[in-house]
Amino acid sequence: MSAARYAVIGNPVAHSKSPAIHEAFARETAQNLSYERICAPIESFVASVDAFFEAGGAGLNVTLPFKLAALRYTQNVSERAVRAGAANTLRRDADGVFADNTDGVGLVRDLARLAGAGAPPLRAARVLIAGAGGASRGIIGPLLDAGVARIAIVNRTRATAQALVLQFQNPSVELSAHEYGAAWGESFDIILHATPASLFDARVPLHDDLISEAKLVYDLAYGRGTASDSTEILRHARALGVAHTCDGLGMLVEQAAESFFLWRNIRPQSAPVLAALRAAQAHV
Ligand code: ATR
Repeated sequence: MSAARYAVIGNPVAHSKSPAIHEAFARETAQNLSYERICAPIESFVASVDAFFEAGGAGLNVTLPFKLAALRYTQNVSERAVRAGAANTLRRDADGVFADNTDGVGLVRDLARLAGAGAPPLRAARVLIAGAGGASRGIIGPLLDAGVARIAIVNRTRATAQALVLQFQNPSVELSAHEYGAAWGESFDIILHATPASLFDARVPLHDDLISEAKLVYDLAYGRGTASDSTEILRHARALGVAHTCDGLGMLVEQAAESFFLWRNIRPQSAPVLAALRAAQAHV
């Protein structure tokens, strides 16, 4: 039988780690599949996806800037993708294309791994999220499902954070929106950094007191080096004495594992793949 065809579609997509991750999952689970990169022109996402599926493609991972377009591509959408306002996984079924979002569950699984190593668990945690863009919107629903006790969203533009608070308001969890300069009369167990600042070797202006009181600072982005200090905010948190700091490479692997499961109905082991990526990352 010929290999089932999968790909990651985005723009740019040249540096995507998804092919390496899915090829490793396929080897581990003995699945006969191919996985490629598709760089779609910004204005022709739909045409590119149509062409892929018409040529027999079985599934796509969707990355920036097309996650919103992926949600709109089909009527057949999971509840978690609707909640996130974005889709990162498309699957061709007998009766059409199904859209889902695995980013949030990817984060929750990676945080569970860290909790196994002594970081605070999500259940009953007081969580601060820095940033109110697509990445933040994708994780709030899964954090609520995981049983957090409190979510504060801090953002450069408070109105954007407030819109998320309204969207996700919940009778049992206090959600609130803040600016970076706000006065804080409380502390948080977990800080999740979800802005693109790390990509520019920059850092959001969170109060040092807030950072140093956290038990875990997690950056959804990742950079070169080791898990605990590969981005600017992680290095700063470590310098302030935060016990647990971690970048988002594990989230990347976990969201991929969930996509793989959606496509192949088999759950790959993520730990060996994460370890291999870490080893490669340390030598970049
Ligand atoms: P994504 O969709 O990946 O989350 P985004 O929508 O480009 O990325 O931006 C995410 C968030 O990062 C936004 O909340 C943005 O703040 P604004 O709403 O005020 O625009 C925030 N952000 C982007 N660059 C930032 C920076 N240099 N410092 C602080 N916040 C930043």
